[in-house]
Amino acid sequence: MPLNFTLNGTPRDLDVAPGESLLDTLRERCGVTSPKDGCQPQGQCGCCLVLVDGQPKTSCAVSAESAKGKAVVTLEGLSEEERALTARAFTAAAGLQCGYCIPGIALRAKHLLDRNPSPSRDEIAKAIDGHLCRCTGYVKIVDAIELLARARRGEPMPEPVTDAHVGASFQRYGAEKLTLGDRPYVADMTREGMLHGALLLSPHARARLVAIDVSKALALPGVRAVATAADVPGERWYGLLYNDWPGFVAVGEEARCVGDVVAAVAADDARTAREARALIDVTWEKLPAVLDPSRSIEPGAPRVNPQHENLLSRSKIRRGDVDVALAASAHVVSGTWQTQRIEHLFLEPECALAEPRPGPAREDGGPRRPGIALYTQGQGIFEDRRQVARFLGIPEEDLYVELVPNGGAFGGKEDMSVQSQTALLAMMTGRPVKLALSREESVRMHPKRHPITMRYDVGCDSEGRLTAVRARMIGDSGAYASVGGKVLERAAGHACGPYRVPAVDIEAVAAYTNNPPCGAMRGFGANQAAFAMEGCMDLLAKKVGVDAYVMRERNVLDQGDVFSTGQVLDKSVGIRKTLEAIKPAYYAAKAAGKAVGLACGLKNSGIGNGVAEWGKCRLVVEADGTVSLYNGYTEMGQGLLTILSQFASDVTGLEGSVFRPKVDSTFALGCGQTTGSRATMFSGRAVKSAAEKLKVDLDAGARLSDLVGRVYAADEVTNDTTELGADVPRVKTHTAFGYATQLCILDAAGRVERFVAAHDVGRAVNPALCTGQIEGSIHMGLGYALSEELPCVDGMPVSFKLRDIGVLRARDMPEVEVILIEEHEPEGPFGAKGVGEIGLVPTAAAVAGALEAFDGVRRMTLPMKDSPAARAMSVGRLKGDRGLFR
Ligand code: FES
Ligand code: FES
Repeated sequence: MPLNFTLNGTPRDLDVAPGESLLDTLRERCGVTSPKDGCQPQGQCGCCLVLVDGQPKTSCAVSAESAKGKAVVTLEGLSEEERALTARAFTAAAGLQCGYCIPGIALRAKHLLDRNPSPSRDEIAKAIDGHLCRCTGYVKIVDAIELLARARRGEPMPEPVTDAHVGASFQRYGAEKLTLGDRPYVADMTREGMLHGALLLSPHARARLVAIDVSKALALPGVRAVATAADVPGERWYGLLYNDWPGFVAVGEEARCVGDVVAAVAADDARTAREARALIDVTWEKLPAVLDPSRSIEPGAPRVNPQHENLLSRSKIRRGDVDVALAASAHVVSGTWQTQRIEHLFLEPECALAEPRPGPAREDGGPRRPGIALYTQGQGIFEDRRQVARFLGIPEEDLYVELVPNGGAFGGKEDMSVQSQTALLAMMTGRPVKLALSREESVRMHPKRHPITMRYDVGCDSEGRLTAVRARMIGDSGAYASVGGKVLERAAGHACGPYRVPAVDIEAVAAYTNNPPCGAMRGFGANQAAFAMEGCMDLLAKKVGVDAYVMRERNVLDQGDVFSTGQVLDKSVGIRKTLEAIKPAYYAAKAAGKAVGLACGLKNSGIGNGVAEWGKCRLVVEADGTVSLYNGYTEMGQGLLTILSQFASDVTGLEGSVFRPKVDSTFALGCGQTTGSRATMFSGRAVKSAAEKLKVDLDAGARLSDLVGRVYAADEVTNDTTELGADVPRVKTHTAFGYATQLCILDAAGRVERFVAAHDVGRAVNPALCTGQIEGSIHMGLGYALSEELPCVDGMPVSFKLRDIGVLRARDMPEVEVILIEEHEPEGPFGAKGVGEIGLVPTAAAVAGALEAFDGVRRMTLPMKDSPAARAMSVGRLKGDRGLFR
């Protein structure tokens, strides 16, 4: 149907499909990509915001037809001056991380400031209430809008920080383009002759695929291919640790969760692909689903996954005699803590683009083989490459992979999502194919944070010194292994928190079920354990008659102490300093009559537990005066590419802007996943080492122009950690640890008023990015504590709505103060260690402590929705019987 409107001042006459959203029209027909698709058609994330006749509209939730005759404005349509000012304000304030939410927020800021040139912070927070940001905690977004307001009033804008030394808040790499939506994500990329893909997912958590008929879908005009299990030329099963996850469910097999892929369609446009998907006839035999992890591992339970028994893993730690120690303890507390399933809700849903590309020139001079280029947003592009090449049945070298820095991941993009099916469709059609998931499909498919049930018995002497910890944990890993066994292993390792415990008896089990898979998510088991262990600390403090601070002060680890895994902590143990840094605020708040909660935490930096870990770097001097900086880890908003540039700049003395970070398969830089708070440490070491080689040439008098084409290489391995529970003379389960103490302060109504977070980060390589990571973590941790959950019925999430899932809005965020402690880590580059995960390890426990101080109720189940703090939040209200959902 015909549609005319004005887009950024230019009249447009188009034909659109009936019911087509304005967002689709803008992105697909007009090529305008600053409005992003985060949740179409929900209208709940704000990524797609545009102005229609001056009014802000979520363009995914309104029809294109509604814009008829009207003036539509996107960020592309602002004046150059306004665009530049906006980009600089967000860059200078470090007001973005992955950047996916920012164009929508930036346009909202324009709308606000046009009407209110001097808004308060509360007014700004209220104005951006329709926007979700999963990365920043909104603190620096509000800073950026305040800065923009001042600049629009004529006040000077701070210059972007160009000092790239370690310790300087060097501006985020690519920040200005990200702010304006000009740096493409995968979904923004196009190719000549590109097709669009769609996936058909299982509607059942457990059902046998009896038959599939794709003939009607294939017959639909515009459909170019329909792929099923029968079309996979290589190995259909893949996985990070076990090959237990099929790219397609085959006829005769069971679907194991509601995210399983049954078929994939490639068509001329996305609408046709989705239409064709609906025409695929599938016959199912529905089977009773296995939904309870405890029952899943009982004898006789139906086997969930043919590749592995239902007991996925059992991790054990034993030191000392816990029975004797508990019997001799002056005080013992016992209880069962329960945490919930959590959705990552990265703002950018999964998307991949694949196109035919000949493989590399062959050494034998033979013709180049056909190959594929894959543009991925995964957390380990070489892991994507390994799995996709195997799936396609082609040599890895014939699959070129390139990272398109993603719009958030938080662990949820470690496993394969759409990469293999997209590559297969490109291979089948011989054309470029792009395949993006909708928000609902994304939630159904990728692994979640584990719900874990944790039974604890903890003892202490009469003065509160811990004597023993016994813990039994069981986590629901869902349909696929992912890294679930490792998550429970990490929960076991972190079960005693950052405390000295002489006797330890821990057992943590991961079990398969037909629920959505669970795997990596920021904190990786440490968060769940901290909620339980810190709860025990508070309960013991009461019995001893001391406060939360004193209880912890008597037990925190010092250098030379033994961690629960048996590792002697002989360096960079900053937990006491973080506790002491919180002390004044803790006692001041108590003296003011506030309800307060305090919790400590630690998180491994590096996977450890016997895994060899790599950092790899190539610095290539280019003819244009830049230096390409290749590394194997992923940028996902955490700022990796920026700080790697800082390491290289600091070593060589070259400007930070000289370095061009790249992540692709030009060089063999496979390092595994960007996980375990390790990329800064391991990649940073490799970058430092490669930069030192370049520096030798520079010191010898060479200019960059003399070195064009030179490659400076460094591959650095760390392989001295020991397996959990290994009987070895020197236990070293992890390379390093980050430590934190957090303080939650409630107001008179029991709402979270203020958070103070003291973190030992080793070295704050970039203080602005570092505090941003912690602020964002606290936002995520508060949601975990109070409002976020993803309950399922029969293995299907009960809601896909963003507001139901419960991620906090700007107005829900308390004031946050971050205190950075630098306890030099000798194994890290410039003393740095990871900060990506530790930020939310203690958060929920600190909130639980404050709530108990407020109303006397010790809450042992997350989220704590029965609390005044949760009721004050604007999100997380699920309809229906909550008892049914658990
Ligand atoms: S994509 Fe439109 S509000 Fe989320
Ligand atoms: S910066 Fe807001 S979602 Fe990533």
